[in-house]
Amino acid sequence: MSFRILGTGSCLPARILTNNELSEILDTSDEWISQRVGIKERRICTTETTADLAYGAATAALEKSGISPECLDMIICATVSSDSAAPSLACAVQAMLGARCPAMDVNAACSGFIYALETAAGFFARGAKNILVIGAERLSGLVDWSDRSTAVIFGDGAGAMVLGEGNSYISSKLFARGNSSVLSIPSHRGSSPFYEHDADTPFIHMNGQETYKFAVNAMCKDLSDVVSAAGLAMADINWVVPHQANARIIDASAAKLGIPQERCLKNIERVGNTSAASIPILTDELLRSGKLRDGEYIAMCSFGAGLTSAACIIKV
Ligand code: UT7
Repeated sequence: MSFRILGTGSCLPARILTNNELSEILDTSDEWISQRVGIKERRICTTETTADLAYGAATAALEKSGISPECLDMIICATVSSDSAAPSLACAVQAMLGARCPAMDVNAACSGFIYALETAAGFFARGAKNILVIGAERLSGLVDWSDRSTAVIFGDGAGAMVLGEGNSYISSKLFARGNSSVLSIPSHRGSSPFYEHDADTPFIHMNGQETYKFAVNAMCKDLSDVVSAAGLAMADINWVVPHQANARIIDASAAKLGIPQERCLKNIERVGNTSAASIPILTDELLRSGKLRDGEYIAMCSFGAGLTSAACIIKV
């Protein structure tokens, strides 16, 4: 027994930040960002916390599924930008929902949502009936706003899925190769008098080109692996839901795999890169578009700091 998707939801902060606005505070341009990354605008928190976004996505998913918070057996949040190191984001959402089930966070950076789905699959194998899985990020709080190579890329948002018993989760793959030199977000170092202190730089540090190469290779290999593990061919996949890091990464990978552009979904132009939230936000948009038909196959894939990557096939 694995799971099936009972309902999805998403929540974006109200404030839209356009490329033109960014060009006023950074040495960048709408043309550079549009051509190199594929983003025109992203959403940025002003008053919203990460928990507010996660709660907004969760309530929408619960409403769609018809499941009440009391019926949840577990809440799992994928995030790198929880409002606090403890309690977890999942515990914050549990309190806001009035749920009584266990709750915990998963950190696999941008691959976190698929890692969280895999974790949920383990709880279903042990008899869980309903699990809420959320990807939520407020990356605007982790960006160095004077660094044009990262500040133009990231956005804030959350997506959620309510999962129930079923057999939709057909194949999956998780990957990690420990490396902090390519992409990292150092923590605050604290003020211990027993510790050597370097400068505190708790911002996103990224070697864009190395990340790009890792991303295209990971996306191609992971998608091929989960498609063949499911006993399918790439042509059987109806919808690809890739992590939204760069439109060029998505287009290059889709071209290498022979996936038609119209089946490889993108919302990066409007939403930017929301790390662990990108896959559930895009999946929610797909489900709400009415384009998805019963029995179709969705392939999800992601990559990010760790370095991590992950992919899975879901039959709806
Ligand atoms: O979800 C996490 C995973 N993250 C990713 O997957 C990101 C993967 N990497 C990328 O998406 C791309 O590498 C970037 C979008 C980050 C950068 O694009 P690029 O085509 O690799 O650019 P680059 O780093 O090679 O820089 C090219 C030029 C440089 O100028 P010079 O040295 O050629 O004069 C940069 O300084 O572009 C410059 N540049 C910018 N110019 C205007 C870098 N950022 C900007 C900017 N606006 N925002």
